[in-house]
Amino acid sequence: MDTNCTKKLDELRASFEEILNDYLDRVQYKPEILNQSMRYSLLLGGKRLRPVLMFACAQMMGGKITDVAGLALALEMIHTYSLIHDDLPAMDNDDFRRGKPSNHKQFGEGQAILAGDALLNEAYGICFEECSKGKSYRTACSVICKNAGAAGMIAGQAADLYWQGKDEAGKEEGDFIALHKTAKMIISAVAVPAYVYDADQNIIALFEEFGKNLGLLFQITDDILDDCGTFDKLGKTVGKDAKEKKVSGLSIYGKEKCGELADHYCDVCLKTLNDMPYESSFLQSLTRWVRDREA
Ligand code: IPE
Ligand code: IPE
Ligand code: MG
Ligand code: MG
Ligand code: MG
Repeated sequence: MDTNCTKKLDELRASFEEILNDYLDRVQYKPEILNQSMRYSLLLGGKRLRPVLMFACAQMMGGKITDVAGLALALEMIHTYSLIHDDLPAMDNDDFRRGKPSNHKQFGEGQAILAGDALLNEAYGICFEECSKGKSYRTACSVICKNAGAAGMIAGQAADLYWQGKDEAGKEEGDFIALHKTAKMIISAVAVPAYVYDADQNIIALFEEFGKNLGLLFQITDDILDDCGTFDKLGKTVGKDAKEKKVSGLSIYGKEKCGELADHYCDVCLKTLNDMPYESSFLQSLTRWVRDREA
C-alpha cells in the first residue's frame, strides 16, 4: 500500500477509535465485571476493517463519516460479539484474540457469553436510534440485522460448527460457511452507505458484489494465515483449523488453489470497483492489502 493510502487507512481507523471512545465515555455499564469485559474486547483493537470499509464507501459516494458513524459502531459491536462467542470452548476454543487472552480466558465463560450478548443488544439499540433518521436508515439497519442473523453470520457459524470433523463436507458446504460467517458482515460494511444514500438498485448490487468477493477474499486469507501466519502478526493461535478439523478453504481446496482463489476474488473486487461511477483508488489499494495481508 502506498503512503497516501496508508495515511488514509490510519485516518479512518483513528476516526473510528474516536467515535467508539466518545460512545464509551457516555455509558457506564453495571456491574463492573460487565463494564470491563465489554470494554476489554471492544478496545483491544483489531484491524477495524468493517468500520474502515463503511467510512471509505461513504466517502467514495460523496458522503461523510458522520453519516454512518452510528451504523459503523453497531457493526463493529456485532463483529466483536461474534469473536467473543467464536473463541468460547463450545465453539473454536481459542485462548487468544487480538494478541491478548480471549474474553472468556480473562473473565470466565459465563461473563464472556454475557459480554457478547450485551454487545449485540447495544448494537441494536444504536440501530434503533439511527432509524429515527429516516426510511433509508431503517433499510440499512434491516440489512445489518439480516446479514448478522439467521440468514447471515449466525448461519455460517452454525454450519462451521456442524461440519467440523465431518469428512463428507465439500465445496458447497465450505463456500456456504465462508459466505455466511464472514462475507455477509463485509457486505453490510460496504453496502450500508449505498442504502443510507438511497442509491439505485444497480449501484447497490455492485456494492453487494464487491462486499461478497472482498468477504470471500478475507476469509480465504484468514484460512491461509491460520496455516502459515504467525501469532505475533495475527494475535491469535495458528494451526487451529487443521487441529480442530475445521472446514476451511485449505481443507477443501488445498494451499495452492487457495492462493489462486484469493487472486480470483481480488480480481473480481477490482473489476467491480472499476464498474462503479466513483473514484475508487483507495478501496482498490485496500483490496490488494487484504490479498497480501499478514495480519
Ligand atoms: C476475524 O475477523 C474473524 C473473521 C471473519 C475471519 P478480523 O480478522 O477482522 O478480526 P479483527 O477485528 O481484526 O480482530
Ligand atoms: C470466524 O471465523 C468468523 C466469525 C467470528 C463470525 P474464524 O473462526 O475462522 O475466525 P478466527 O480465525 O477465529 O478469527
Ligand atoms: Mg470460527
Ligand atoms: Mg475462530
Ligand atoms: Mg479463522
